[in-house]
Order: sequence, then structure tokens, then C-alpha cells
Amino acid sequence: MLLLVGSLLLFTFVVYLRRTHPEPHMDWGDLDLTSIVIPDEFHWGVATAAHQIEGGLRNNWTVFESSNEMEQSGQACDHWNLWKQDFQLISDLGLSTYRFSIEWSRLEPEQGVWEEGPLQEYSRMVDDLLSKGIRPMITLHHFSHPAWWEEKGGFSKAENIPEFVNYCEKVHNALSDRVSIWCTINEPVVFSSMGYALGQFPPGKRSIRLCISVMKNMMRAHARVYNLLKSKNPNSSIGMAKNVTLFDPTNRWSPIDWAASRLLDWIWNGAWKRAILKGRMFGSRIEGARSSLDFIGLNYYTHFITGLFVPTATKDLDFQRREHEIETDFGYPMYAEGFRRAIEYASGFGVPIEVTENGVADASDSLRPEHLMRHIWILSEAIKDGYDVKSFHYWSLMDNFEWAEGYSMRFGLYEVNYGNQTRSLRQSGEIYRDLIESQVKR
Ligand code: BGC
Repeated sequence: MLLLVGSLLLFTFVVYLRRTHPEPHMDWGDLDLTSIVIPDEFHWGVATAAHQIEGGLRNNWTVFESSNEMEQSGQACDHWNLWKQDFQLISDLGLSTYRFSIEWSRLEPEQGVWEEGPLQEYSRMVDDLLSKGIRPMITLHHFSHPAWWEEKGGFSKAENIPEFVNYCEKVHNALSDRVSIWCTINEPVVFSSMGYALGQFPPGKRSIRLCISVMKNMMRAHARVYNLLKSKNPNSSIGMAKNVTLFDPTNRWSPIDWAASRLLDWIWNGAWKRAILKGRMFGSRIEGARSSLDFIGLNYYTHFITGLFVPTATKDLDFQRREHEIETDFGYPMYAEGFRRAIEYASGFGVPIEVTENGVADASDSLRPEHLMRHIWILSEAIKDGYDVKSFHYWSLMDNFEWAEGYSMRFGLYEVNYGNQTRSLRQSGEIYRDLIESQVKR
């Protein structure tokens, strides 16, 4: 009898979850993806990150790359020397916003030793973007930091946070007269889980306990930076870039798959929203975190189909796909429908949304045009339905160093020939450019 009642309750709960967490799939063939309407003041752009494009760095990543016999980032796209021509490429696409990150290790290569030259170079970059009518959006931490800070334990130690805050303040002091929009930290959940639970990012640790404490420290660091920079310049708009991955149960009738998917969602997505809305994360109070956002940066790529087997290393990841879903070069499916769900989730932070990343690894550029059109169509529908989305940054301007995957994954609107550092616009780049031209009022 007890078993029967228990099973009935479980069944009812699964029915409830199926209703409250739908996984829509659309018939894309029936839609006219070119019928989009985007407000005039909307910002179209691209995004990059320092370690992935600049080249010639020495930081937590380069140390990790050489000690793990991984592909070396090396000269990357040599963007540190070629940024002028790269900014022209952005301008050629008709874009009005560019998200990029500052490399802390250039500014403070040894603890307390500050180099003025690189900060001046970043300042020249800002001026050049502004002269082209492109809004610079700066990310202060995009997965990389100085090797000396890593040696001290980086984000795993709360006592290291002041050094990070100090660096952020220096950059903000120098650039906030011209840069109005800032991301404190890029994808803290990816950085902490890949670096401290899955061991695929520096420092290559594998401990859930450590990972949770890094998450809390990253949230503390974000809150400290947010509050300090706002007090210095209230005109700065400050947010963080949140990777929103959706977790869907493999079998939508299986209580076990639901349990796995809800648990992962709770950690990956829920914890960050609770920190901003309630000032608490995993049972700890995070000082200053409540309402520490002027916008939420949304990075959306895919959904993760989840079952009992929860991988403990990315190399074990066997990305699952629904039967009809198209596989990207990374192995995970293209799931543009999820972009709408990610926008809905992001709207729950109660601040405007800036889409800080969306794109696809597709070396042959055979999928990217469709990927781009589907996501932009979803974006247009969401805006039509009242979601406050201000910008869209395509990931990425050009092919670049894709972290643990090295150069094998190609995300660029421009293809990069790493042999001679030439960039060529892909067909998807032309499509993006033409689409923007058709949307922007002349
Ligand atoms: C990161 C980027 C990365 C992209 C594609 C995002 O998680 O912010 O640095 O290149 O995804 O994988």
C-alpha cells in the first residue's frame, strides 16, 4: 500500500515537472527566419577574450598548458599586435558593440609591479573603438589571471580577493571615463567547475568542496568589485556574464533523470540567481551580493541532456542529443529553442539583459548560417514579447584559442589562418553583416 502511494506521488511529481519545465522543439522548416524586428537602439556586436586572441602571454593558462602537454596558446591571433586591423574588421561588419577582456597578467606581471604601457594600449583600443562608433564592453576576468596570483591560490582563497579588486579598480580608474559598460567576471560557474571539479581548466583540481568554495569566492569578488566601482563612478553599468546551460532529463518520465537535471540546474543556474536576489549562496551570506547587477550578461550555447551518469571529467562527456538535433563540432547539439528559455531565466534577475555570447564551433561554416538565423529569430520573438534585451554579441569575431580544446574549435565569423595571421570573412559573417544592415536605420 505504502509503495503504491509512494509511486503515485512520484508519478504526480514527474507530471508536475514535465508541465513546469517544458522542453520545446520547433519545426524550423515552417518558419520565415528572415522576418525579424529589432528596435533601432539595439546593439549588435561580437565578443572575444584576451587569452584567446592576444598571444604572447604568461598567466595561469600558459602555465597549465605547458604542464599538461596541451596545445599551447602561443601567439594566438596575434591580436596584441594586430588589434587595429581587427577593429576595422568589426567596423566592416557594421557593429556597434564589442565585448573584450583585459589581461591582468599584462598589467601586473609580478605582484605589486604595475606596467603602465599595456594599460595605455588598452586605452588606445578604447579610443579607437569609440572613434568607429563601437561601444566597448570590458570584461575584467575572462578565465585568465597572473601566474603569481594562481600560485597564491587565486579564487580558492578569500584572502586573495583584495588583489583582484585592486586590479579591477586600476582598470576602471583608467577607462571608466570612456567605457560605460563592464562585466566583472565571465562565467564563474564554468571557471570553477572546469578548474576545480572537472580538472580541465587551471589549476586542474578535482574537488566538489573546493569548487563550491571557489564559486562563493567568485561571487564575493564580483560583489566587492561591483560595489567599489559603482561608488567610484555611478554612471558605470556593471554586470557579470552568466553561462546559462539548460539541463533536460534524458527520459522525461524518469524520476532519476529529473533529479539529476534539477540538481545540476540548482547548482549551475539557481545558485547565482539566489546570490543576486537573496544575497546567499550555498548556505553562506555573500556580503554585498544582493542587487549587485545593473544588467545580466547572458552566454547561451546549448542544453545538456542529463541522466544518472554525471560525468566527472569533460573528456568523459558523451554529449547526448535528441534524435532530430544537429551536432555542432563541439559535440553538443544546436538547440536554439533553449535560447528563449535562457532569456526567460535571465529576466528573473530583474535587470536588463545583454547577450554577451552566442555562437557555434563549425569549421566548415555549414551550420553557422542556420545557427545564427535561428538564434536571432528567437531573440526577435523574445523582444517582441517584452523581454528587455539590449544587445547581442556573437561569439566570436574570429577563430581563436578555445581553452582545453585548443585551436581545433573554430567559432569565428572570420576564419583565421594561424600560419600567416590572415582573416577571411566566412559566409555566415556576410549574413550577419547584411542582416544588421537591414535592421539598422540609416
Ligand atoms: C566562453 C568562451 C568560449 C566559448 C565557446 C564560453 O563559455 O566564455 O571563452 O570560447 O564559451 O566555448
